Amino acid sequence: MTDWEALADEAVGMREKAYAPYSRYRVGAALETADGRVFTGCNIENRAYGLTLCAERVALAGAVAAGAVDLTALVVATESSPPQPPCGACRESLAEFASRLPILLVNPAGEQRRHDLAELLPHPFEMETRDRER
Ligand code: THU
Repeated sequence: MTDWEALADEAVGMREKAYAPYSRYRVGAALETADGRVFTGCNIENRAYGLTLCAERVALAGAVAAGAVDLTALVVATESSPPQPPCGACRESLAEFASRLPILLVNPAGEQRRHDLAELLPHPFEMETRDRER
């Protein structure tokens, strides 16, 4: 069972690690996998703006690189009111691994919104391939 409160604390804490000198918009993410591990991420901006990494995909990369591809819960922490959902690119990236991923959005003011990925991305890109092994 997901400890949403603990996961939210990790996401909020990760905002402090954000490298966001250009937008000054800090995002933190905490991603739980089926084996109970938690992978965290923050946004990492770049002077070449298009190279910026979103917090959610930084967390996802950590999970997949550690062999944890069965995603069970995601918390995203932004400073916005209401707290903001993952961008479209992050939604597609997450849907590759968990099309119905439960997602909690939080902000430092304590506001929360619950979604699941199928609601945020109702028609993901799907591609039939001969080899879907990773
Ligand atoms: N950002 C994220 O980290 N996740 C999202 O889903 C949307 C946007 C970051 C990228 C950039 O550093 C800042 O937020 C403003 O767009």
